[in-house]
Amino acid sequence: MGIEQPLLQAPMAGVATPEMVAAVGNAGGLGVLPGVLVPPEELRARIRGIRSLSDRPFAVNLLLHTELYPPAPASRVSDEALRQVQAVLNRFRATLGLPPSDERPPAVPDLVDAAIDVIVAEKVPVFSIGLGKPPRTVVDRCHAGGIKVIAMAATPADALELAESGVDAIVAQGSEAGGHRSTWVKRPSREHAAIGTLALVPQVVDAVRVPVVAAGGIVDGRGLAAALALGASGALLGTRFVATRESAAPAFYKRSLIERDSDATTVSDAFTGLYARVLRNPFTEEYAASGAPVLPAIAQQLAGLDVLAASERQGSGDYYPMYAGQGVGMIRDLPAAADVVRSVLAEARGVLSRLPQGVDLG
Ligand SMILES: Cc1cc2nc3c(=O)[nH]c(=O)nc-3n(C[C@H](O)[C@H](O)[C@H](O)COP(=O)(O)O)c2cc1C
Repeated sequence: MGIEQPLLQAPMAGVATPEMVAAVGNAGGLGVLPGVLVPPEELRARIRGIRSLSDRPFAVNLLLHTELYPPAPASRVSDEALRQVQAVLNRFRATLGLPPSDERPPAVPDLVDAAIDVIVAEKVPVFSIGLGKPPRTVVDRCHAGGIKVIAMAATPADALELAESGVDAIVAQGSEAGGHRSTWVKRPSREHAAIGTLALVPQVVDAVRVPVVAAGGIVDGRGLAAALALGASGALLGTRFVATRESAAPAFYKRSLIERDSDATTVSDAFTGLYARVLRNPFTEEYAASGAPVLPAIAQQLAGLDVLAASERQGSGDYYPMYAGQGVGMIRDLPAAADVVRSVLAEARGVLSRLPQGVDLG
């Protein structure tokens, strides 16, 4: 990837800003700009924003889930499912002082191919893929333009499929991870594709020949050192970077990360239709208790966008998706992104140099 240090900042839709990506790059790591649902002209502006702040390599991320690339047709939303979803959301609306709604969500915009065109035209150094397996033609097109491709998998079998598609590196995403679980087909339950980082990383390392990056629950230098011990070439951190000064997350979300413990996360599909690890809140708990179904990917989010927006406006995390991994209990401050890179690397060096003295395996 052309970076100096084995540390990547995760792409985080709505959270990772061009300033964060540039700061991580300038500190020697790889920053990844989220591109999901960003219109092409805006994506181009953000890429140029990074370049105005840094001349280091960076990546741009897209989600290639089978329900998003291309988007699932709106006709897949049945009247009955919509009625049940809106009935639960209307309870949340009443709490937030919003009028009830029975509206169908708008169509999920089909922006992936236009975004890939921007990535290729702008010669972005690295194309990062979450929740999807790229077509060989897309990988070849990137390689022809001198662009490296990195993609994320949550099982060894999926990692093998990614390797066969020709990607240059693979992120092994353990189930501790904050945000969406990286599968390209929605699994029957949240119990599926839920392998912890400690068990997943060595299996992916054994399964593929390309470099592997460990992700999920890693927030400090001990985690990075452990990832390297498992055979990974580096670590990708998400939640740790939500609680930084450059993060665009609302203040109540950053405060929750600092205050809440690792027992506070749950895996829910109630926010977007796909399974994601978030901080437990009234939205996740009351939705689960209702027994209501969820709509296809992102259609679920668009159906309740007014709820999320009102919760944010009111400065409340009660009805807002606060994506967080199980490392959240170790986050207790709000540093600059570059300081995260520096402190994680310094701590990892310390851990690795002290290990031989602390361990006697005979
Ligand atoms: C707030 C947030 C938003 C995320 N958005 C994306 C995204 O847009 N694309 C993606 O590929 N992964 C996304 N992820 C998942 C990360 O790529 C990564 O797997 C995860 O953050 C690693 O676990 P950790 O949060 O415990 O460090 C997101 C994670 C978080 C916490």
